[in-house]
Amino acid sequence: MGLYHLIYQSRAVVSFSDAELAALLQQARTHNRKIHVTGLLLHSSDDRFLQILEGEDADVRQLYYQHILSDPRHCQCQVLGEGGCAERSFADWSMGFRLASAADLHELLQSGALNPPTRHGPKPTIRPELMERLLDFVETKTAC
Ligand SMILES: Cc1cc2nc3c(=O)[nH]c(=O)nc-3n(C[C@H](O)[C@H](O)[C@H](O)COP(=O)(O)O)c2cc1C
Repeated sequence: MGLYHLIYQSRAVVSFSDAELAALLQQARTHNRKIHVTGLLLHSSDDRFLQILEGEDADVRQLYYQHILSDPRHCQCQVLGEGGCAERSFADWSMGFRLASAADLHELLQSGALNPPTRHGPKPTIRPELMERLLDFVETKTAC
């Protein structure tokens, strides 16, 4: 057992309305509180999601691989990094949320932020650069 974080991106199959997004967040926050998972969800104007999940190893992996990955409301799920971590970066949030533009997401994921994807062998870990960009991003965007 240990702290673990996982970040992925995906695309909504059909655009989420504000009400659908609010319902998703409410359900996610209620469940995440129960399993002590924290994190951040970004949703972009071009229907993309970027989410970071952090918590106990088994809880994070079960949530993503058993539930979120098979959620029919989004597709093209791609893990950008995952692995053990020393501490939570979003400890106060059962699931923080920010709207982002397509350019915001592009900027967050541009060169230097990601380890190259691996076909075999160890999974890419989350680079500190990406965590720093995400933390800076949430500070500059007001919550909604
Ligand atoms: C982009 C996205 C992010 C989600 N994030 C979470 C989350 O952080 N926590 C959570 O419990 N469910 C989250 N969900 C909902 C799950 O995919 C799923 O609907 C929920 O866990 C219920 O799972 P089940 O239908 O397998 O029982 C998310 C769904 C989407 C589309």
